Amino acid sequence: MKKECVLVSGGAGYIGSHTAVALVEAGFDVVIADNLSNSDMNAVEGVRRITGRDIPFVNVDCCDTEAFARLFEQYDFGSVIHFAAFKAVGESVAEPMKYYRNNLLSFMNVIELMRRYGRRNIVFSSSATVYGEADTLPVTEQTPRKPATSPYGNTKQMCEDILRDACKAYDNLQGIALRYFNPIGAHPSALIGELPRGVPQNLVPFITQTAAGIRECLSIFGDDYPTPDGSCLRDYIDVTDLAKAHVVAIKRMVEGGCKESYEIFNIGTGNGVSVFELVRGFERVNNLKLNYRVTPRRAGDVPAVWADTSLANTELGWRAERTLDETLASAWAWEKHIRNI
Ligand code: UFG
Repeated sequence: MKKECVLVSGGAGYIGSHTAVALVEAGFDVVIADNLSNSDMNAVEGVRRITGRDIPFVNVDCCDTEAFARLFEQYDFGSVIHFAAFKAVGESVAEPMKYYRNNLLSFMNVIELMRRYGRRNIVFSSSATVYGEADTLPVTEQTPRKPATSPYGNTKQMCEDILRDACKAYDNLQGIALRYFNPIGAHPSALIGELPRGVPQNLVPFITQTAAGIRECLSIFGDDYPTPDGSCLRDYIDVTDLAKAHVVAIKRMVEGGCKESYEIFNIGTGNGVSVFELVRGFERVNNLKLNYRVTPRRAGDVPAVWADTSLANTELGWRAERTLDETLASAWAWEKHIRNI
């Protein structure tokens, strides 16, 4: 049987690079496309080193329709995993048009080019952000979405809707939206991981940079939430487990296992973990002390969100495997690797 080839747009990024590795390990061919606007070639080199394969890389902006079309001319992939998007919540509030133009246009180009070139399967990177402050926890795929509180979150909702409508209208298109909870950690080789530019906005990169001495002190945003220890609860999902969810989603589509032409799955662990628990876990596992203080709440944070993952467990046969301790150790190993500590 011919090997399925998968286009990974945004494959030089954090989740994309881990997914490219998981795809190759599962026997797929991979083409990475990225415009390197928030990533660099080291990630692609890392993927090549881990897999021992000279994976093709194309520097292309998915918003550039003609250049993107040439990629479809050049490579015979049947499936696309679309990661390429901007993802900073705060920046999206300050520069909404940048987010709408990039995230929506690139996604519409993907779908239209897939139609033009007869490519069938697409996985879209969605986010738990679509649930907002849910009325019931844990959230299932049926939990109603709340109005988005940022342009970034709105692009995730809008792209989900675009994919739903396109899959309904076009017979030869099938799509899966994966709603990621909080991806953290790094590949066990420490050759790829998360590399935020500037001051990290997310918790784990801020923790690892504080441990590395790059940041002076971690701010814990609020200890007065209605949660057991007063800090927010999130569902932290290991990035290598998350990567494997993409592999099973692609297999499901390639093997004709989808029940609907458009499906949605939560991808998390099913556990809510507090900020304090995460910080203490990081200290314990890595045997170090973090400098931290409690500061006021961050605007826009929901008190708690975690996933009901039963649908992914039963339908995809997927579940998170790595323990939080292993994940937190991998995050620190990666930070040490890039800082030469
Ligand atoms: N936090 C801190 N200090 C920090 C950074 C974060 O205490 O320096 C806390 C936050 O308040 C939150 C938790 O750590 O309680 C997790 O924060 P992250 O920024 O790491 O993650 P979020 O849950 O805010 O963000 C995630 C995804 C986004 C998505 C967002 C929607 O990373 O893509 O959920 O809420 F948009």
